[in-house]
Amino acid sequence: MFLPLPSPGALTIEPLFPVALGQVQLHPDPLELAGQLQALLALRGEAESNPDPGCAWTGDLNGVWQLHHHATFSPLIAELTNHVRSYLDQLGFDPRKLTLHLQRCWPVLSEPTQVVGRHHHPNAHLSAIYYLSGDGSGRSGCLRLWPLRQVNELVAGLGVGHGGPLTPTPWTRPWLDVAPRTGLLVVFPSCIDHAVLPNDDPDALRCSLSLDFVLTAPPMGEGQASPEYLAPHPSHWLAIPEDGYPPA
Ligand SMILES: [Fe+2]
Repeated sequence: MFLPLPSPGALTIEPLFPVALGQVQLHPDPLELAGQLQALLALRGEAESNPDPGCAWTGDLNGVWQLHHHATFSPLIAELTNHVRSYLDQLGFDPRKLTLHLQRCWPVLSEPTQVVGRHHHPNAHLSAIYYLSGDGSGRSGCLRLWPLRQVNELVAGLGVGHGGPLTPTPWTRPWLDVAPRTGLLVVFPSCIDHAVLPNDDPDALRCSLSLDFVLTAPPMGEGQASPEYLAPHPSHWLAIPEDGYPPA
């Protein structure tokens, strides 16, 4: 693949390897949304943090990570997965040659001042976040995404250097913030570091669902080769019992 030749004249810059952030704004039914929020509060129960009072409550650490099997959420999650398929299509994945698995789906509830620290999801290939609250202002806590490495800052750390000679531009920004908005779905590679900034709205609970996806090969017939690099479909895997295999 070759770069197009530049026009004569001034120097131009081409984006070489952009990270694909998928976004779609959905329009949830207010009654369904209210039911979902009520269900999430019931699932959280008495807890309000993770358990550090400054950390948002996240279902994955509290046994609530299979919302896709929950009647209140499964229709919504089916709709979300259709958009995730569109993301894969646009990246160029052939849906006939892979199986998309939803591995887990959990809520994140962030009370005023709470955060989620910087992390990524090494267990997954593709992650998505759906917002059940937020007005687009970012007040309840933006999602912050970091590049794997900001090579355009040229000198490591200069993009956030205080008083440094580098003015942030789209070419050198050290991170990107996404403001939550009710009904917004974002999709990004699971290797991307991200965090949730403090909820600065004293009156609002910040609510979102996180989804982790894994790509494998589709189920294969006897003698068919599974594509290199892609894990075979889990239906071909063998779980090894704790006391060894074959079982005594
Ligand atoms: Fe996350």
